[in-house]
Amino acid sequence: MTRLTRRHALRQLAGMFGAGAFAQTGEPLLEPANVFDFMPLAKAKLDPIAWDYLEGGSEDEVSLRDNREGFNRIVIRPRALVDVHKIDLSLELFGLRLDYPILLDPAGGKNCFHADGENLVAAAAAKAKALHITNGGIQKLVEAGKGPVHFQLTTGGELRNTQTMRAFVKRLESSGCSGICFTTDIMYVSHRERNIHNRFERRWCETGVPPRDAQGKLPRSPNPEQAAQYPERPFPTPTWATVKELRQLTKLPILLKGILTKEDAQRAVEAGMSGVIVSNHGARQLDHVGGTIEALPEVVEGAAGRIPVLIDGGFRRGTDILKALALGAKAICIARPYLYGLAAFGGPGVERVLELLRTELALDMGLAGVPNLPAIDRGLVRIRGGNFR
Ligand SMILES: Cc1cc2nc3c(=O)[nH]c(=O)nc-3n(C[C@H](O)[C@H](O)[C@H](O)COP(=O)(O)O)c2cc1C
Repeated sequence: MTRLTRRHALRQLAGMFGAGAFAQTGEPLLEPANVFDFMPLAKAKLDPIAWDYLEGGSEDEVSLRDNREGFNRIVIRPRALVDVHKIDLSLELFGLRLDYPILLDPAGGKNCFHADGENLVAAAAAKAKALHITNGGIQKLVEAGKGPVHFQLTTGGELRNTQTMRAFVKRLESSGCSGICFTTDIMYVSHRERNIHNRFERRWCETGVPPRDAQGKLPRSPNPEQAAQYPERPFPTPTWATVKELRQLTKLPILLKGILTKEDAQRAVEAGMSGVIVSNHGARQLDHVGGTIEALPEVVEGAAGRIPVLIDGGFRRGTDILKALALGAKAICIARPYLYGLAAFGGPGVERVLELLRTELALDMGLAGVPNLPAIDRGLVRIRGGNFR
C-alpha cells in the first residue's frame, strides 16, 4: 500500500481543484500553504537589499506593524446553519464583472524581484482574471491586453497642465485601459531607512534590468538617498482641483489611492471620483497613520454608500479579507504577497498567491456562514476593545 505523504496529498488536491500550475512548474510551487510560506522562499532568492526594499516601511515602521496587528482586534461572529454548499466570490466593480474581490496593487521596482517582473505580473494577473492596477508603461497595458487593467498615476508630468493631461488621457483610453488609479500619498518619497542604510537606489529596479556587481549582486550606490535632504519639488503638486479637472477629461473610472479619513472620502465623492482605496502605501510613506483596517470604518462612513471603498495594507489571510468586507470594503488589494510569489516562482508564483488567498477567503466564508459577498455585513464582526468607529 502506498504511504500517503504530504506531497501525495498535495498532488491529489491539485488534481481535485485543477491546479494547472502543478504540472507546469513542478512541486515546489504547491508547498507553500499560505502567503507567509512564500516569504522565506522569496527572501532566499533576493539580494538582501532588494528584500529590504520589498519588505520595509518608512521610519520606525510603526504603521507597518499596525497594518497586521489591526486585524487581531476584529473578531468574526460566524452564523450557524446557513446553506453554504456553494460559495460565490463574484462581484461588480467599476462596470466590470470580477470573479473575486482581490486586486493587484501597483508596485514599482518589480524588476529587482524578477528580471522580467513587470511583464510576468501583468500576464499572471490576466491569467488569474484579477483586476490589476499597474504602473508599468501604457504599452504594456496593450500587450498584456487580456485582463482588466487600471493605470496608476501620481505626481508625474502627465498632470502638469490641461494639455499634458488631455494627451495622457487620450493615450490611456486608446490603450484599452479600464480605469485610472491616482495615488495621493506620494507627494514626496519618505525616509525608508532600510534603503538609506543599504545605499539602495530605487531607480535600479524601475528601469529595465538592474545593474549587478562582479558577484552578480545589486551594487551599493555612490549617491544614496540622503536622509538630510530638504523636501521640495520643482512643480506644484496635484490637488483636488487637479483630480476634478481630470474627471472632466475622461469617462474612465478614477480611483483615489491613499485615502485615510472620512473628510477626504467625502471630498472624493464631491470631486466625482469612482472609488477610493484606503491605503497607507504599505506603510511606506507617512509613518504613524495607523493600520488601514482601523481607518476603514471612517472612510466607509464618509463615502456613505455613494462610491465603493477598497482597502489595502497587510492583507495576508482570507480572514483579513472577510473582516474588511464586513467593515464595508467592496474589495481588497495586495502588493507584497504577489511580489513574494513573483520573487519565489515568477508568474506562476503570482497566480498561486492569488489562488491561495481566493481559496482561503471562500473557505472562511463557508465556515462563517456567508455563501456570497452580499451576505457579508457589519454584523459579521465585532471589535475587541479600542475605539474603532
Ligand atoms: C515594492 C513596493 C513598491 C510599491 N510601489 C508603489 C507605487 O509605485 N505606487 C503606489 O501607488 N503604491 C506602491 N506601493 C504600495 C502598494 O501599492 C500598496 O499600497 C501596499 O504595498 C499594500 O500593502 P501590502 O504590500 O501589505 O499588500 C508599493 C509597495 C511595495 C511593497
